[in-house]
Amino acid sequence: MNPPRHFALIPAAGVGARMGGACPKQYMPLAGKPMLLHTLDTFAASPLIEHTFVVVSPEDGYITEILASARHLETRVSVLFNGGATRHRSVLNGLHAIRESLDDDDWVLVHDAARPGLTGELIERLVCALRDDAVGGLLALPVVDTLKRADGAGRAAQTVARESLWAAQTPQMFRYALLRGALEQAAAVTDEASAVEALGLLPRLVEGSPRNFKVTLPHDVGLAELHLKGNT
Ligand code: C5P
Repeated sequence: MNPPRHFALIPAAGVGARMGGACPKQYMPLAGKPMLLHTLDTFAASPLIEHTFVVVSPEDGYITEILASARHLETRVSVLFNGGATRHRSVLNGLHAIRESLDDDDWVLVHDAARPGLTGELIERLVCALRDDAVGGLLALPVVDTLKRADGAGRAAQTVARESLWAAQTPQMFRYALLRGALEQAAAVTDEASAVEALGLLPRLVEGSPRNFKVTLPHDVGLAELHLKGNT
C-alpha cells in the first residue's frame, strides 16, 4: 500500500465583505503580490505537499491572470471554478471535484486564502504532529486574553474562563474520506474541525503562530505586510 500523501485545498471563493476593498480580499496586493499568491507559493515550495488545489467562484475574473504570471506554479497548483455560497460549501465542492485524484486515506490540508502568513515550518509542524494520528487536527493558538461575553448592549455580562480555550487557525488537516463525510453530514460550520467534532472525534490541537492570523479588517493589512516583509 502506498503511504498517504498530503494535498492542500485553499477555499478562495469569498468576497471579503468586511474588508470592503475594490477586489475580493484574497486578491488584494500585500507586500508586492496578491494575498492568495503568498499562500500558493508557500504550499508549492513545501516538499511535503503533493499538489495544491484552489477553489474560486465560477465567476472569478482574477485567478487565471495571476497564475499566468506565476509560471513556477504551473505544475504545482490547479484551479477549481466551483466555489459555493459559504466556505463550508466551497470546501465540499472542492473535495468532490478532486475525488479521482486522491485516495481515501490521503491527507487534505484546508487553508484559508486569507491567512497569507503561513510558513513552510508551520506546515511541517502540523504534518509531523499528525503523521500517526487517527483523527487529524489543526493549527491553533492558546487564548491569552481574558474573555468577556457581551450582553446585547455592548456591556460585559460575564467573564469566560480562558483555560483550555484555543483560537482555531488553518491549515486543518484530515484524511480525505473522513473530511468529506464529516462536511457532508454537518450543518453550517465555519471550519473543518467542527464538522469532525460533530462525529464525536477529537481533532488534535497543534500550536500555530500569531503571524498566521486571518486578514479580515482594513487595519489587518499593515500587520500582515510587516510579517510578510520579514520584519517580525
Ligand atoms: O470570509 P472569511 O475570511 O471567513 O473566509 C475564509 C476563507 O474562506 C477565505 O479564504 C475565503 O475566500 C473562503 N470562502 C470561500 N467561499 C465562500 C466564503 C469564503 O471559499 N463562499
